[in-house]
Amino acid sequence: VRTQVGIVGGGPAGLLLAQLLHRQGIEAVVFESRPRARVEARQRAGLLEQGTVDLLRQAGATDRLDHEGLIHDGVLLNYNGRRHRVALAELTGGACITIYAQTEVVKDLIAQRLEQELPLLFEAEVTAIDSLDTGAPLIHYTHQGAARTLACDFVAGCDGFHGVARQAAPAGFFKTYDKVYPYCWLGIIAEVPPSTDELIYAFHERGFALHSMRSPTRSRLYVQCAVTDTLEDWPDARIWEELHLRLGTPGWTLHEGPILEKTITPMRSFVTEPMQYERLFLAGDAAHIVPPTGGKGLNMAVADTKTLFEALRDWYQAGDAAGLRDYSAACVRRVWRVQEFSNYMTELLHLNPEKSAFDQHLQDSRFNLLTTSAAASQVVAENYVGLAAQRAA
Ligand code: DHB
Repeated sequence: VRTQVGIVGGGPAGLLLAQLLHRQGIEAVVFESRPRARVEARQRAGLLEQGTVDLLRQAGATDRLDHEGLIHDGVLLNYNGRRHRVALAELTGGACITIYAQTEVVKDLIAQRLEQELPLLFEAEVTAIDSLDTGAPLIHYTHQGAARTLACDFVAGCDGFHGVARQAAPAGFFKTYDKVYPYCWLGIIAEVPPSTDELIYAFHERGFALHSMRSPTRSRLYVQCAVTDTLEDWPDARIWEELHLRLGTPGWTLHEGPILEKTITPMRSFVTEPMQYERLFLAGDAAHIVPPTGGKGLNMAVADTKTLFEALRDWYQAGDAAGLRDYSAACVRRVWRVQEFSNYMTELLHLNPEKSAFDQHLQDSRFNLLTTSAAASQVVAENYVGLAAQRAA
């Protein structure tokens, strides 16, 4: 059996790539190791840059997003109870962000692919990828109890940080860089209307907190916790108590509601270079991880997907290999920009137990600069809405 593009991983990058290719008449098979229900239940961030929405629209996957997505033209930053609004649209020539959960994006893309009866295999375990330096790379996998092999022209490695795709290159081929942060996020979804129209990111001397949302009736909230904490350390009452303290500003009230879900997320930065080995192209978390502050993970995966899609389209439609040749260089440059911004937002807003008093003063001063310099706020706004979107606005 043969296809044109073998896509390892049925997350947003893999599913979106498959759909974009399909619209150009290019065949793909998507392999996802987990069951559909698990993929659809996985809670991630929910902040889409304009460029992300645009690419989903190009894929024809925005019917629900257009109705349910919440458009925001500003974001609030609190620092020990002082509030600073970053006027996103005003500072970027009109760019906005859309709040719509990554899991909903994934559900929409899965529904679309299955409706069109295009190949998307769940519980398909890719066991090996080889022959990448030939014209016909092979994907070996097991599905429904049988071991099989698929030959393809190219392999897209979209299977996340723990995936197998990155392991298909010879040992030592990829250079990796990483940084682990000395704190985690405890995230909840609560059945209560958001207490704010715009997202609130807060630094507090007790640690970070974030008030986001999922819909007009559901709030998404996070608190910084210790790397050693477990969910047992965080009964509902303690979560709300910390959220009140950390998000609080004079004249503002946080509304509580039943907590539907609780998860703890570790925080790390990770980069793989290059993002290509022969006929294997990495996209999304398979190539890089950002800490969640600023909600860049999905947007960066989608940006990779756009670059890879255009490169494959040019190859199949015009025999033009330039996009494939330049794929890694084009992505890696953007990846480091987003890494720097995600690291900046993370270090600006978290309490780092390992920080010296001197460095804590630098952090305070960094926030003060935002409140006094429109130029500093503009840098945050441009990065937050996404640099590509900003240029297009
Ligand atoms: C959300 C998550 C983020 O990390 C962020 O920066 C903004 C929003 C969210 O889950 O809604």
